[in-house]
Amino acid sequence: MTWHKIDHTPDFSRPFIKKVKAGSKSICLVGFEGKLYAVSAKCPHAGADLSEGLCVRKLIVCPYHRYTYDLETGKGGEGQNDFIETYPVEIREDGVYIGVNSLWDKLRLGFK
Ligand code: FES
Repeated sequence: MTWHKIDHTPDFSRPFIKKVKAGSKSICLVGFEGKLYAVSAKCPHAGADLSEGLCVRKLIVCPYHRYTYDLETGKGGEGQNDFIETYPVEIREDGVYIGVNSLWDKLRLGFK
């Protein structure tokens, strides 16, 4: 896994969704109730930009057709049968970091 430093200082005074780049990945950095989440920015339904959606009760809501995805697990709402990728996120002394697995990392993890 490679950790990417993100150029963003979170302000938890209200929920936010910010689109960031971590390596080649477009990721939504979401702040909700004092916690940070990192999820894929692309909706699997029809490709909408989830960073233009909204955040409700630990769910990110797609701006196009209102599909919802759990911020912790990436699991789609009931009946959707889909998911979005989630990424580990850490707040360190020098900033926010998002961890991204390469294809090789995923293959290795698949055989453990
Ligand atoms: S594109 Fe996201 S719900 Fe349709």
